[in-house]
This record gives sequence, C-alpha cells and structure tokens, in this order.
Amino acid sequence: MTESTTAPDASPGAEAGGMITRSEAGTPLLSCRDLTKTFSVAGGSITAVDSVSLDFPASSVLAVVGESGSGKSTLARMLLRLMPATSGTISFRDQDVTRIKGQELRSYWSEVQAVFQDPFASFNQFFTVGSLLRRSLKLAGVEKEEGDHLIEECLGYVGLTPKEALHKFPHQMSGGQRQRVMVARALMMRPTVLLADEATSMLDASLRVNVLNVLHDLRHELGLTVLFITHDIGQACYLADRVAVMEHGVVVERGSTEEVIFSPQAEYTKRLLADVPDLRGSLKHHA
Ligand SMILES: Nc1ncnc2c1ncn2[C@@H]1O[C@H](COP(=O)(O)OP(=O)(O)OP(=O)(O)O)[C@@H](O)[C@H]1O
Ligand SMILES: [Mg+2]
Repeated sequence: MTESTTAPDASPGAEAGGMITRSEAGTPLLSCRDLTKTFSVAGGSITAVDSVSLDFPASSVLAVVGESGSGKSTLARMLLRLMPATSGTISFRDQDVTRIKGQELRSYWSEVQAVFQDPFASFNQFFTVGSLLRRSLKLAGVEKEEGDHLIEECLGYVGLTPKEALHKFPHQMSGGQRQRVMVARALMMRPTVLLADEATSMLDASLRVNVLNVLHDLRHELGLTVLFITHDIGQACYLADRVAVMEHGVVVERGSTEEVIFSPQAEYTKRLLADVPDLRGSLKHHA
C-alpha cells in the first residue's frame, strides 16, 4: 500500500471491506494524478506535494493525514484550483479540470466547496451570520426568497436553527457553531464535494465530535463526497472510509481505515498511530 503513481486504488486491499461507493460510471468523481507543487524559496526550491495520485469516489469520505508541513493544504489548494499545479492533472466527472477557466471554473467551484481551519478568518466581524449567508447567496445570484429557504434548509443540515444563528454576530457563537455555519454556507452552493482542511482542529474535543458527526451525516443524507484533511489520525479514522497518509509531500500509505489502523505498512503511519492510544474506539462510524 505504498505510493503508486498511476492507479492508486488498484493497490491490493485498497477497497477491502466493500465500503467504497463508486459513482455510476465506476470512475471516481474527483481524482488527481501525479499532482506536484514545487515552490521557489530562498536558496532553492521545495516540493511541497510530490506526485500525488488520489481517487475520491462519489459519496465517500477520504481523509488525508500528515504532520504539519507534509503538504496537505497545498494539495487541497491545488484540488480547489486556488493554486496552479507545477505538474500533474485533476479530473472531475471525467473532465480534465487542471486548467479550466472562466465559467467552467466557476461551475467547478460551486460543486467543490471548502471549509477551512479558522471560521473567524472567514467571517466579517461586523456582519451577523444572517447577513453573511445572504451576501454569499446574492453573490451567487440566488433570489431572496429562494435564498431564505436555502439558508434555513442548510442550517438544518448542520443542526442549527435560524433563531440560534441568523441574528448573531460571530463572536456571540461558540467555535463549533461558527464552524457549522461555515459548513452551512458551503452547502448552500449545493456542492457535490466538500473539502474540509483542518476544519475541526481549533475546536475543543466535544465540539469537534459534533462537527465530525455533522460531516458524517451529510455524506449519508446528501451523498456528499468529503475530503477531510487533518494532522490527527484519530479524527481521520473516526470519519473516513479511506485514509491516505502524507509525509514530506508524498503519500506513503493508503487504504481502508481498518487496514491503516490494524495493519499499517509505513513506519510513519505506525508513528502517527502510536500517538493515539485508543483508536479502536474511533471506529464508531464503521460499526
Ligand atoms: N506559498 C508558499 N511558498 C513557499 N513554500 C510554501 C508555500 N506554501 C506552503 N509552503 C511550504 O510547503 C510545505 C507544505 O505546506 P502545507 O501548508 O501544504 O502543509 P500542511 O500539511 O498543510 O501543514 P499544516 O498541518 O501545518 O497545515 C511546507 O514546507 C510549507 O512551508
Ligand atoms: Mg495545512
């Protein structure tokens, strides 16, 4: 289960457990091949992401886990088309989206939504949550009446009522509530893929479980494909069907969550697992 550059899911056992839901055509919804990012830095260059190939089958949850600096966010930014890849390709619904522009890129962005680490950074402190959400919808060209309905529906998905959320300013909410608002905002665009980059890292343990459970339910309720990026292998295993482990920009291990927990191959994975004392309890969603 070490890195293979062409057909990652062809590796033995990658689909063990029969938990992977394929899209109708049998091809992954989103995938990347040999995706690489090299940054020029003083005195040379660093390869933050090195020939990464991953598949995201429809309605699956894939976690990418690795220590700080392993290249997770760089990978995310490339997949989101927020940063150009140095080389490699990204495909979405069998279309090469590596270099799409204009309307094609905008429609890709509406389907692939992201939630980041710090919900405060995404909020304007002077707007209530209601005005923030309405502004997002207005920018997307959604009419007011339809927008109000959408806001209510999407707050419902994340377990918030309009009364709890709409009239509040960001500082009047808990970190977990703020992060759920950000998930609701992403859902308003009716995405098929939700990318969460350290979306739960700043939350304390109980709020974190709360947001993880929201993500888990969304995958089942809405058939969302979730890419969950974290430095915490415990959270990765709690939520994901499959886990890819990144070290220094390279995917050193990939497999079903059970495989990664119970028979890790890479020394790096074994080290990450050693830091989590009770990982079997994390398999709640795999029962
Ligand atoms: N714009 C940039 N210019 C130069 N180097 C960069 C840039 N962005 C990221 N890097 C470097 O690329 C490497 C990977 O960074 P990245 O942010 O992708 O890691 P990460 O796994 O997301 O880390 P963390 O868990 O801390 O968020 C790091 O060495 C980082 O310093
Ligand atoms: Mg990061």
